[in-house]
Amino acid sequence: MKKENKKEKMREIRDEILSLKNSPLYKYRLENKYHPVIGQGSHDADILFIGEAPGENEAKTGIPFCGASGKFLDELLLHIGLPREEVYIANILKDRPPQNRDPHPAEIEIYAPFLLRQIEIIKPKVIATLGRFAMEYIMNKFGLTESITKITDMHGKVYEAKGPGGTVKIVALFHPAVAIYNAGNKTELKKDFEVLKSLI
Ligand code: URA
Repeated sequence: MKKENKKEKMREIRDEILSLKNSPLYKYRLENKYHPVIGQGSHDADILFIGEAPGENEAKTGIPFCGASGKFLDELLLHIGLPREEVYIANILKDRPPQNRDPHPAEIEIYAPFLLRQIEIIKPKVIATLGRFAMEYIMNKFGLTESITKITDMHGKVYEAKGPGGTVKIVALFHPAVAIYNAGNKTELKKDFEVLKSLI
């Protein structure tokens, strides 16, 4: 797909989300003057990171992972020498759930098709999920339901599936928000980023 076409398709996604009145989170977005968080980065990225949902900082700015977890994500990218502009960062939900509560299944149903369209556009070689929600959604979607176990057993392993651009490698990672406060997870996450680096 040409660069311009990719841009246009991403714009369509943004416009549809901006007027997503059937979402239970739409009213909450307007009431708080929040922005939807569509995603950020290269439309030709080899690695697509998928988080859960925007937090408050993200909803205020429209930028994914720009708060405390984002800072740590930046540190991890720096650790493997990968500029943030070269990857793509998105979430399953594009609007912030109140008090950062877990996404409801009905919300995932509304927002996930946008993420799938982003995957179709970017055709990443590697999908790196951040946290349990993204991991479960992606593993199920890519026919890997039977490989789902505890994140403590799965993290850093490479799963292969059929993606829109051929084989896609899926790597489940701890969510940086959890790892910030857990030294063990932090070390593991750093090692798992080295795995990511080895895949591109
Ligand atoms: N946590 C997420 O899952 N996504 C963000 O964009 C920020 C924090």
